[in-house]
Amino acid sequence: MDKLRLAIPISGNGTNLQSLIDSCSDPLFPAKIVIVLSDNPQAKGLLKARKAGIETIVIEEKCFETQSQYDAELSKIFKTKGIDLICLAGFMRLLSKSFCTMWHNKLINIHPSLLPAFKGLNAPKQAFDAGARFSGCSVHYVRPKIDSGPVIIQAVVPIMGNDTLKSITMKILEEEHRIYPEAIRLIADKKLNIQNGKVVITNHNYHLSSITNPTV
Ligand code: GRF
Repeated sequence: MDKLRLAIPISGNGTNLQSLIDSCSDPLFPAKIVIVLSDNPQAKGLLKARKAGIETIVIEEKCFETQSQYDAELSKIFKTKGIDLICLAGFMRLLSKSFCTMWHNKLINIHPSLLPAFKGLNAPKQAFDAGARFSGCSVHYVRPKIDSGPVIIQAVVPIMGNDTLKSITMKILEEEHRIYPEAIRLIADKKLNIQNGKVVITNHNYHLSSITNPTV
C-alpha cells in the first residue's frame, strides 16, 4: 500500500500532531508523516515529532523579507519531500494566495468551531461568549480566505450550563484529535469528491459518526 505522504506545519503544543503520530503508528493507517515544520523554534510539538523519530524543520519568519518568499521556501521543502497532503495543525501563519493555489486540494486545516461559524482566532471563546448551545470542530480544505474552504468533517460539542471556557476548549480539542485522522483517512482512501465547492463523501456515514452524543 502506498501511503499518503503528510507534512504537518505547527506553531505550538502539537496535541493534534500527537494524535496524527498515534494514528500513523498503526500499520494499517493509509498515511505517514514525512516532515513536521514549525515557524516557532520553541513549539512543544517539535519535541513530540522528534520523540517519534520524525524529521523536523524550523523555518523562522525573520529569515525572509516577504510572506511570498517564506511560502516559496515551504513549497520547495514540501516538493522535495514528495508531500501529497499538508495538514495544518495549529500553524499560526496566514498562507499566501499563491501557496494556496499551488497546493489546491492538497492543503487542509483543523479549526475549533463549526464552520462557517466563528472563524479566526479564539474560536471556542467566540462561541462561549456568544452563548452558543453547540460548538465543535471542523477539518476543511484551505482557501486563501481564512477558514473558508470546503468542510470535510465536523464534530459537534454541546455547551452545557456548567461549562467554562476551559472545559469547552478541552472538549473541542478532544474531538479534534478524533476527527483529524478520520479526515485524512477519507482523503487517503479517496472517499471524497469536491462538487460545487462542497465535499461529498461517497459510501460513508461519517457525518453521523462524528456527532457527539449530547447526553455523554
Ligand atoms: C487547535 O485548537 C486547532 O484547532 C487550531 O490550533 C490549535 C492547535 O492545537 N487550529 P495543538 O497545537 O494541536 O494542541
